[in-house]
Amino acid sequence: MLRQPKTPLSDLTVLGLESSCDDTAAAVVRDCTGEPPEIMSSVVFGQTDLHADFGGVVPEIAARAHVEKLDLAAEEALHRAGLALSEVDAIAVTAGPGLIGGVLSGVMLAKGLSAGSGKPLIGINHLAGHALTPRLTDGIGFPYLMLLVSGGHCQFLLVESPDKYHRLGGTIDDAPGEAFDKTAKLLGLRQPGGPAVQAMAETGDPDRFGFPRPMLDRPGCDMSFSGLKTALLRARDGLIAEQGGLRREDLADLCAGFQRAVADVLAEKSHRALAEARQGGAPLTAFCVAGGVAANTELRARLVALAEEANLPFVAPPLSLCTDNGAMIAWAGLELFRLGHRSNMSLSARPRWPLDTSQPALLGSGKKGAKA
Ligand code: KG4
Ligand code: ZN
Repeated sequence: MLRQPKTPLSDLTVLGLESSCDDTAAAVVRDCTGEPPEIMSSVVFGQTDLHADFGGVVPEIAARAHVEKLDLAAEEALHRAGLALSEVDAIAVTAGPGLIGGVLSGVMLAKGLSAGSGKPLIGINHLAGHALTPRLTDGIGFPYLMLLVSGGHCQFLLVESPDKYHRLGGTIDDAPGEAFDKTAKLLGLRQPGGPAVQAMAETGDPDRFGFPRPMLDRPGCDMSFSGLKTALLRARDGLIAEQGGLRREDLADLCAGFQRAVADVLAEKSHRALAEARQGGAPLTAFCVAGGVAANTELRARLVALAEEANLPFVAPPLSLCTDNGAMIAWAGLELFRLGHRSNMSLSARPRWPLDTSQPALLGSGKKGAKA
């Protein structure tokens, strides 16, 4: 049997560490020529309970939990993969953007592991981890359009290679997940707000309150979600003043109206981003979506329809790989390692780190940390 000569970079196994927000995660990913990549293990320790009483992620609590658990996550990931650290080819770690305490604990651990084992170290942009996941799960080629929509992020990225991204637009204030969470809080629903608002919206009338569609009247792909939350607050207070409280039907209508407005904005801006991404350059291979809000059924149906209309495959990684995890960092590390990227002991933790360095960094900082 004829065999491809094995080049040093054809078969790679990478350990990935993620600690930039409220998930402490580690994973081992292997990629061998001619076979689909394999997630050999993926360990995620969530922190939802630790932050539950505070209505958002508390950076100090998050950082301490990462320090306590990240080494255990790494050990467990290696154990489940059946590998010793000496058997991986590289150690990839989220080096930003995110909550600095958490990012720092990841970078410090990765440096320690790298120094102790002699394995190469690669600092990964967390957003690149999300953006490259459709290649891990679905093997798609470049270029593709990615809508990243979570509790901390909201942006359109034209992904041209593992180290080349063009940011077409994004939120100028809240991320949609953050807006869902705040809406749930205003209406006394449980956290995380997205699933709670979605469930309540099922029986509601989305047109009752006429919520705004911020920034649809402006050209381009930038978005804003903080005004929607204010509109919802006003509608809620109006109802309370009028009737002395909220009926279940009111809650359903408020949730349905809010969800429809978010979906309308994201769908219209996705339509524009697709048109922009298709101008010039190589044809797109897919329209991809990642992040926790991608789980929203109304939004997802709209995005699927858009992709169909644009005659493009719609790729949404499974939710466990859409939300923060170590496998996406290991995979991004693997792809960048192949391109020759390496970090050294001067790798620093960056609270902000735009993927597309030709664009100005965004303003503000979200509940879940600095926006990229
Ligand atoms: O990606 P993710 O797990 O964490 C980061 O933000 O990094 O996203 C979590 C966000 C939360 O704000 C949550 O409310 C939202 O995703 N989410 C949803 C749904 N499921 C989760 N938002 C709308 N509809 C959903 N079904
Ligand atoms: Zn993330």
